[in-house]
Amino acid sequence: MAKMWAGRFTKEENTLVNDFNSSISFDKRLFEEDIKGSCAHVTMLGETNILPKEDVEKILTGLESILGDLKSGKLEINLEAEDIHMFVEEELTKRIGDAGKKLHTARSRNDQVALDMNLYVKKESSIIIDLLKDFITCLVDIADNNLNTIMPGFTHLQKAQPVTLAHYMCAYANMFLRDISKLKLLNSNLKMPLGSCALAGTTYPIDRNMVAKQLGFENIYNNSLDGVSDRDYVIEFASCISISMMHLSRLAEEIIIWTSNEYSYIELDDAYSTGSSIMPQKKNPDIAELVRGKTGRTFGNLMSLLTIMKGLPLAYNKDMQEDKEAIFDSVDTIKKCIPLFGDMLKTTKFNIEKLKKSAEFGYINATDVADYLTKKGVPFRDAYKISGKLVAICIEKKITLNELELEEYKKMSNLFEKDIYNAIDLTNCVEKRTSIGGPSNSSVKVQIKKIKQELNN
Ligand code: ARG
Repeated sequence: MAKMWAGRFTKEENTLVNDFNSSISFDKRLFEEDIKGSCAHVTMLGETNILPKEDVEKILTGLESILGDLKSGKLEINLEAEDIHMFVEEELTKRIGDAGKKLHTARSRNDQVALDMNLYVKKESSIIIDLLKDFITCLVDIADNNLNTIMPGFTHLQKAQPVTLAHYMCAYANMFLRDISKLKLLNSNLKMPLGSCALAGTTYPIDRNMVAKQLGFENIYNNSLDGVSDRDYVIEFASCISISMMHLSRLAEEIIIWTSNEYSYIELDDAYSTGSSIMPQKKNPDIAELVRGKTGRTFGNLMSLLTIMKGLPLAYNKDMQEDKEAIFDSVDTIKKCIPLFGDMLKTTKFNIEKLKKSAEFGYINATDVADYLTKKGVPFRDAYKISGKLVAICIEKKITLNELELEEYKKMSNLFEKDIYNAIDLTNCVEKRTSIGGPSNSSVKVQIKKIKQELNN
């Protein structure tokens, strides 16, 4: 196909070069952003009398019919076009004739693609925010139903202190809430680049703010060189996605551990697990494992984007075309992972008895033994030592701290009374942790309320 720039060239483009250079196979997904941007641009060209109103009308009608036909499937994207921008313009000219050739007045593909990418990030970040909200709702539902489900909390993957399943789920909910606030910030910081043109603005009397307003941007790029060559927002988006995937991956790791025979904290629904082709007894947490695995590719995409940009002098460089497959892949990946993970969680059975039992073994109330003495005036370090010795005795006797005779306690300190058993009862250990953010029923209720408030913001 003869190129748009054929005038300056004496030879046809080499086929391999054409394929190598072309981005249509992946940027075709930007058709809606591209056409929306063109509509705003041409409307402004009309309002500023840069183009006659009749041409503007024709172009708008043409663009709308192309959009309609692409959406309905009546029109297929011609993969011989170099990119989505060329395709739309060529199709427009096919449909409306010479007026179509005027669309690109006071514009370049450099600011056009920058606009498309900003619009893409705007759209997809909102979608991901909604997916995250639904996911947080799944976590909060589990929390609501498990305010009193005691389980061990861990550090170093060693049992540490008792918490509740509700407390645990709220921790994850808060991570994803942070992700939402980052995405919202990214979204509200997006700027409108059109009017930067190739790199140095234009001699036409354009109104960039008018275009921004039509497309829902609060601000426009302040500098045309920056406007065409900024991809920070793509990197930030990839970073937000990577952080969310990292959070999902951490939860995936918990799920994988919890389904193991040794833990048996949960059972995944059959519909959300897979079997083995050789070992009939197996029920594998493949979804969680794949989420954990796919997290790697989103990190890779982030690293690609950073690396693509690191050596680029101003302004546009073709390297930047490589931003697309990276960010598209991250977006596709997270959009698949979040809802599936949510559905898996909704159908997961938590083994409440097993969680409780697991909390009973492992001396996770040893801190509470120390705190008991501290509250009676023993300095914490001394109390800590006494508690440690009591744990050693229990390990030797193969019993829990709750089963150790009062006599044994008294041998270590005569401050111990019968109420020690009350103080180290696991439910009490949790319930006394009423500090803000803690695991007690009342603290977690406050946390849930705050999460729900933020979700409604
Ligand atoms: N396909 C190109 C990209 O994605 C569009 C911009 C092309 N600009 C240029 N001067 N060749 O970056």
